[in-house]
Amino acid sequence: MYSGKHLIQPSDFTIEEINDILSLAKHIIQNPKAYADVCKGMVLASLFYEPSTRTKFSFDTAMLRLGGQVIGFSDPTTSSTAKGETVADSAKTVSKYADIIVVRHPKEGTAKLMSKFADCPVINAGDGGHQHPTQTLTDLLTIVNYKKEIKNLKVGVCGDLKFGRTIHSLVTCLSRFENIEFVFISPEELKMPGYVKEEIEPLGIKYTETDNLEQAMKDGLDILYMSRVQRERFISEEEYLRLKDFFILTKEKMALAKKDMIVMHPLPRVNEIATEVDSDPRAVYFEQVRFGMYVRMALIMTLLGIKDVQ
Ligand code: NCD
Repeated sequence: MYSGKHLIQPSDFTIEEINDILSLAKHIIQNPKAYADVCKGMVLASLFYEPSTRTKFSFDTAMLRLGGQVIGFSDPTTSSTAKGETVADSAKTVSKYADIIVVRHPKEGTAKLMSKFADCPVINAGDGGHQHPTQTLTDLLTIVNYKKEIKNLKVGVCGDLKFGRTIHSLVTCLSRFENIEFVFISPEELKMPGYVKEEIEPLGIKYTETDNLEQAMKDGLDILYMSRVQRERFISEEEYLRLKDFFILTKEKMALAKKDMIVMHPLPRVNEIATEVDSDPRAVYFEQVRFGMYVRMALIMTLLGIKDVQ
């Protein structure tokens, strides 16, 4: 049985290990050709039991750009799951073919469960409303690029804080860096879950909670992290429809913000950022997508034990 590292949640890595991954990603950005065959002969399996555009494509292109190959599915009805196979057995089986597994699943805890049975590293690409650690690595690389350092930042996190797995991973991870303060911006019904607050409170993290986006912008955010309301996690469609347009970021609201605030979003966007904001130089969410591919290249190399070539 494989006893090395998996990535299920950001706390699986120390801050030092995270910084090493970010440095490696920066090296890859500077000279991508130097990494074009470091994973030659290796296979990544991407098992997507839930829809995805960015995460699946960015993992697939990351492995291809490292010279490796990719197998997998994005529609579980075409796999043995449809015949009743357990995810544990699927993990055991797939790890006989592949060197590394990426899994996204609607059920919280599935990636962790699979990591117990796989003979290779397992990466959590999103488990229900729980965690999404590779989006966090993407977010951190984006922050380093625009803010130079991950410290002394006032971060507004806006939208569906209850079900947003990218938010849970980002907030708990950022809390381990120096002097980070949060403004949690959400409707009452979609507030940050207690288990996230309980994790950051002992670290002495300062946070406030509000449903007033305009006021938060005026109060001087360095980063505004927007998110969509997670329709698929709602029990009541009516409740979703009532809350889905609670926040819409517009040019007018952007005018209230600091000149060097950046707007991030894990995407997909639905309605929460008006397209008129896209041309604002502070809107970095499409650049964020590009950083996601590079940081996943660095992560794959790290988990496969491949040393930097520079
Ligand atoms: C996110 C996810 O899947 O949690 N998407 C992504 O991977 N970039 C965010 C979302 O779906 O809202």
